[in-house]
Parts: sequence; structure tokens; C-alpha cells
Amino acid sequence: MDETLQALIDKAAKQVDGVKTRAEFEAFKARFVGPAGELTAAMKRIATLPKEEKPAFGKRINEAKQALESLFDDCLRAISRDELAARIGPPVDVTLPAPGDPHPGSLHPLTQVRDEICRIFRQIGFSVAEGPEVETEYFCFDALNTPADHPARDLQDTYYFPESAKFGNISKNGTERNLLRTHTSSVQIRTMLKEEPPVRIISPGRCFRRDTADATHSANFHQVEGLCVDKNVSVKDLKALLDYFIKSLLGADARTRFRPHFFPYTEPSFEVDFASSHLAKVGSKWIEIAGCGMVHPSVFESVGYDPETYSGYAFGMGIERIAMILHGVDDIRYFYQNDHRFLKQFA
Ligand code: DAH
Repeated sequence: MDETLQALIDKAAKQVDGVKTRAEFEAFKARFVGPAGELTAAMKRIATLPKEEKPAFGKRINEAKQALESLFDDCLRAISRDELAARIGPPVDVTLPAPGDPHPGSLHPLTQVRDEICRIFRQIGFSVAEGPEVETEYFCFDALNTPADHPARDLQDTYYFPESAKFGNISKNGTERNLLRTHTSSVQIRTMLKEEPPVRIISPGRCFRRDTADATHSANFHQVEGLCVDKNVSVKDLKALLDYFIKSLLGADARTRFRPHFFPYTEPSFEVDFASSHLAKVGSKWIEIAGCGMVHPSVFESVGYDPETYSGYAFGMGIERIAMILHGVDDIRYFYQNDHRFLKQFA
């Protein structure tokens, strides 16, 4: 490049470091390409050149102009960035705890209790299985031996989707109504259809019922379902397991009691109560904590297990209920309001 043009670019490159504001930038740019600018002056020289030198000189001028323009662009971009930074402050890493915030985020109490329940069962050979929250009548009721006129199926108790709402691959034969699962027991069926015995799973998850919210009811809540299927599984195993679980959760002095009950998918069925001297927060002596029983032969038949060869137990419990007992919370709605004053107590 022409020596004077190169000198001009070197000069601009040196000066650009000192250009910090938009006004300085405008003045800087004008010194080179304004009406009285140095490059403008150089361009005017073209008129004085002999004809044959004009094209080559014109080319060099263009190169010089491009070099300057790229300097201008970089400079202007840097100025814009500085202006923006001055307006919004220094860059923020939103993943860091707020400076001086004594309460960084923590796991929700329901998540903590769910994890603790899973930890206890995992230690004794159960694995965690999950299923969809949008279910079909088949998995939620039919395959669980729940008759068509069972009250749980009632519109008053279960959220159904309109016939027109179809949810891809969750259905067994594509004809059943879709609903929001009312319990995690549906995962029993999904698991047994996929796996051969022995099966040992627990399944935590969200459930839905048409309940009006009050201190002990919520239209969405969480359960943990359990299922064990093998040869020679008996009620003794079920009792020992739940007793072990409750002692692990609530302390070695906790005791359990099984009361006969009815569930369509188990026979015999029980409700499990516990008592524990540690839990002075909870007023009454015996508190119900789970439903359970021996898997009904009809359930085995609907998943293709031979009820003559296999036996099993199942159980289900509410996570909210356990969290309320463990932490002395007297209103289930606290769990869903995300009030910092409540949540920070579990950090
Ligand atoms: N599904 C029951 C409920 O939602 C809980 C339950 C009871 C689960 C007995 C079971 C069982 O597996 O055997 O209240």
C-alpha cells in the first residue's frame, strides 16, 4: 500500500485506543473520512494523477478505506458495549447466590421427604419406577381390578379429559378415556407389563383428585407406591417391610399396627398406623400412614403373571401426609404456596 496511506492507517490505529465516547468517536472518524479528513484529502489527489496511475491508486484508496472502516466498526461496537454496561451494571452470574442473601435456594420439603423415602427403600433392593401423570382408565382402574361402578371413578373424584384429547402412546389399546392419575398404583401395572418377576419397585409421583382444598386436601398431591412380586411372598414380608420402613423414617421406637381394610387391587388389604414417642408434635397416639395388601390375583392376571406361581404385596402412601407428620405442619396448603418464610425452615 501507498506509504502515506499506510501511515494514515497506522496513525488511526494508534489513536483509536483513546476514543472512549460517542462524541470522541465522531470527531475521530471525521479526522479521517470527514469533508476535511485526511483520507478525503488523499482521495482528492486522484484528480491530479496521470490517467494510467488512477486505477492502481484508486484501488489502494479503497483498501485504506476498508481498513479504516473496520477500525471504526470495532471502535463503535466497543463504545456501544460500554454504554450498555454502564446502563445495566456489571455482568451478573444468575446462578450465584445473591450477595448477602442468607437464604440461598434449597430443596422443597416434599422433595426432601420423597428423596428420604426413596433412599430407605433403595437400600433394601427396591428400584425407582416412574409413570405418566396423564393416565388411562385401563392403568388407573381396570387393570387394578377396580369395577366400572367404583366411586373412585366418579366424575366427582377423578379429572377426565374430553374424548377429543388424545395423548400419544400412553394408552394400551387406544380406546380408553384419558384422566389425571388418582394414585401412583398405575405404575404397578406399567412395570409388570414390562418386566418379569421378581419385581421390587417404588414409584413416587404426583397425583390428582377432584378435592376442594382445605387443611388436609389438595387437588394435586404426591404419593409413593410400592410393589414386590416374587415366589413365596407373604403378609409377614409386607408387615416386616413396612415396620422396617417406618422405624427407618421415624426412629427405632416407632411401632406399626395393621388394620383390615379394603382396596380392590389387594386381598387381604390393610391400613397401616404408626405410633412414636418422638413425635410429640402429633397429638393423637396412632396415626394412619399407608394402605397396603397382597396383590389381588386379578391384577396378576391382567398383566400376564401366573397367580399360582407368584405372590406379592403392594402399598401406597402420601408424601404430604408424611411430611406433615415429620415436620409438624398442620396445613397441606403451605407446601404449595412457595412462601419463603415457610420454605426456608427446611433449608
Ligand atoms: N392407591 C391407594 C390410594 O391412593 C393407596 C394404596 C393402597 C396403594 C393399597 C396400594 C395398596 O398399592 O395396596 O389411596
